[in-house]
Amino acid sequence: MINCILDFDPGVDDAAALFVMKKAKNLNLLALSSVNGNVSLDHTTRNMQCLAKLLDIDVPMAKGQEVPLVREPFFATVHGNDGMAGFRHMIESDDVKELTSENSVIMMHEIIQNSKEKITIIAVGPLTNIALLLKTFPEDKEKIEQISIMGGSITSGNVTSLSEFNFYVDPEAAKIVFESGVDIIMAGLNITEKANITREQIMLLDTIENRKSKFAHRILDYYLSNDSGIHDPCSVIVLDDPEVFEMEDMYIKIDVQNDETRGMSYRDLRKERNGHYNCKVITEIDIEKFRKILMDAFTE
Ligand code: RIB
Ligand code: CA
Repeated sequence: MINCILDFDPGVDDAAALFVMKKAKNLNLLALSSVNGNVSLDHTTRNMQCLAKLLDIDVPMAKGQEVPLVREPFFATVHGNDGMAGFRHMIESDDVKELTSENSVIMMHEIIQNSKEKITIIAVGPLTNIALLLKTFPEDKEKIEQISIMGGSITSGNVTSLSEFNFYVDPEAAKIVFESGVDIIMAGLNITEKANITREQIMLLDTIENRKSKFAHRILDYYLSNDSGIHDPCSVIVLDDPEVFEMEDMYIKIDVQNDETRGMSYRDLRKERNGHYNCKVITEIDIEKFRKILMDAFTE
C-alpha cells in the first residue's frame, strides 16, 4: 500500500480525484489538506469537509495557506463561485468532520515524521503548502517517497498561452518544489486536457439513483461545458494504476517572471542531455482505462 496525503483546492476535478482515491486499491489515504486555488480557502476547505462526508472518508483534515507565497490570490471561474459548480448545497451537512487544530503544513509534517514508512504526497492545487512544508521542515524530504503533481505543461497553458493554472497561481512555490530534489511525477495539461469522460457517460450518471452519482453528474456537466479536462484524477491514477499512463524523465524548470510566462514549466534539454532529470512527466494516457476508472468511481 502507498501511504499518501492529498493536498488540493476543490474544485470540481479535485472532487473527482477524491472519488477516485476512495476506490483506489493500492493507496492508503492518511489525511486531506486544503489550499487556496480554484476558489478561496474558505470554500476549498468547506468543500473538502463536505466531500469527505459524502464519500465516507474519515481522515484528519486541515486547512493550509490562504494566499500564495508572494502573489495575490488568483481564482478560477470554471468551478463556480462555491468551487462545486454551484452545487455544494447538495452535499452540505451539519455533521462534517471537524478540522484538526493545526495548519495543514504542521499536520503533514507530523504525519511524515511519525510514519515508519515514507509518505507520498498528491498535490493537485497550487503548491503553496508543499513549498512551505519543504522549506520549513527540510528534514521531511528524506521521508517523502514522491510528490505526484497535477500542474504545468510541456505544450501550452490554460491561463496564458504558456502557463497552467496551479503553477500560475504560485510560481515561486512550484519553483521551490521542482528544485527540492524530491522525486516528482508531473501530470501536465499536455496529458490532462485529454483526460475526460464522454457526454454520454456524464448523462448516464444522471440516470443512477445514487446521491453521489447525481452530484457527480451536476458538477461535471457544468465543469465540462467550460473546461476540457478532468485534470486532477491523473495524479491519483498514476500511482494506483500506473499502466494507464506512460512517463518520460525530464528536467523541468519554472518561470517566476510575470505576464505570459508567469509559472510556465519548461524543459532544460541541456541538463537532460547530460543525464540530469528532476521529474517524470506523463506523456501518454490510455483514455478508455481512464474513463473506466472514473465511471467506476462515480457509480459505486
Ligand atoms: O490547470 C488545472 C488545475 O488547476 C486543476 O488542478 C484544477 O483543479 C485547477 O486547480
Ligand atoms: Ca485542483
